[in-house]
Amino acid sequence: MDYLEIEGSKKLNGTVIISGAKNAALPLLACTLLSKTPVCINNIPNVADVKTLLQLLENLGAKQTFESNRAVVNTISVNSTCANYDIVRKMRASILTLGPLLARFGHCEVSLPGGCAIGQRPIDLHLRALEQMGAIIEIKQGYVIAKAPKSLEGANIIFDKITVTGSENIIMAAILANGVTTLSNVAKEPEVVQLCEVLNEGGAKIKGIGSDELEIEGSGGELLKLDDITVIPDRIEAGTYLCAAAITNSDITLKNVTSEHLKAVVSKLTYMGYVIERNENSINIKPSSNILPIDIKTVEYPGFPTDMQAQFMALCTQANGTSVIDERLFENRFMHVSELLRMGADIKLSSHIATVYGPTKLTGADVMATDLRASSALVLAALAAKGKTRIHRIYHLDRGYEDLEGKLSMLGASIKRLSE
Ligand code: UD1
Repeated sequence: MDYLEIEGSKKLNGTVIISGAKNAALPLLACTLLSKTPVCINNIPNVADVKTLLQLLENLGAKQTFESNRAVVNTISVNSTCANYDIVRKMRASILTLGPLLARFGHCEVSLPGGCAIGQRPIDLHLRALEQMGAIIEIKQGYVIAKAPKSLEGANIIFDKITVTGSENIIMAAILANGVTTLSNVAKEPEVVQLCEVLNEGGAKIKGIGSDELEIEGSGGELLKLDDITVIPDRIEAGTYLCAAAITNSDITLKNVTSEHLKAVVSKLTYMGYVIERNENSINIKPSSNILPIDIKTVEYPGFPTDMQAQFMALCTQANGTSVIDERLFENRFMHVSELLRMGADIKLSSHIATVYGPTKLTGADVMATDLRASSALVLAALAAKGKTRIHRIYHLDRGYEDLEGKLSMLGASIKRLSE
């Protein structure tokens, strides 16, 4: 198994190119199931989650190629509607095939993704919304067995909670349904917005894009003609590199970013004293002369993203004072705390609140990655720590960060991928 070895306490400098967003690429790949034409998707990050979804589409019978960050997917040959456990267990986002498969074929069998390190992560809201659209759903032997014998019907759906993949699933299902679906309390994440825009370009009729109320006129089963797509930049990868610069108090520039999507992250960094210049497609960060502590509450977009919580926790260990981090979305998203403690951090946990006492001198250690973003927090801590850190189980990082060690090396970090 691979691990990363990082020699810390080095300044970073230079420019890093941000990849396409994993969380945008996944629903875009799933929505190819709604297209009668082959779809070419550009700027796809070369990460494990993308490969897992491509493998799932191929298992369903689709033809696909993936080279140089460009995937071409043709789903017209799909002849299976079963997303099996072996693939779904590798990646929860496989559930994104549920809505499109059911809408297109009138039935499907998708393995339940189960819990994961950051919490239970139920899919009850996805299922309830599909039932409101007329689906008959049973859970049997760990699978969601969904049927819509008379096709899905438009419905008025109010999500009890804002759910990103839930919104995406139901939007995709509503595209092929009979009649009009209205969705309230829909996620407004840029990845959801891009999905809607792409679907409309392919012939869908979605009104209200970017708001939390959507009206979708279903096509009654007529498939879309999706065009070439370019995935938006990854705001979480970008935020992670901003934190890498911040924790080492360095001056770096990010290219191929959408600054607009990073407002909440940039606002916290600015409060901490970092000097940030945002242009439309690039961001420069310069050191802070006095790293101030912050309070963070994770909420849905456009608020502070839960996917940046772990990275900011690592950063707060270097702030001059006490920071408070309130995790509102996932009940167990503090797996990185015990590993950060092993590196010398001073963090107290009480329910969903972490209090980080800074500044602390971090030292290199052997640490274990537990989930995707928790792992990136360990990388950040390692960049600031004195001595060598070895981060084990980095398959978590490989799920969502393209060429992490290559990009950090280009910025001057001392980082190596080695085998146990
Ligand atoms: C997506 C992102 C993930 C991010 C998360 C929150 C992808 C592939 N993943 O995950 O990186 O951390 O949004 O921004 O885009 N919930 C329910 N019932 C449901 C669905 C969700 O109770 O049926 C709860 C969840 O447990 C959680 C909250 O709603 O507490 C938000 O989860 P959700 O937005 O669905 O997260 P994902 O879409 O899985």
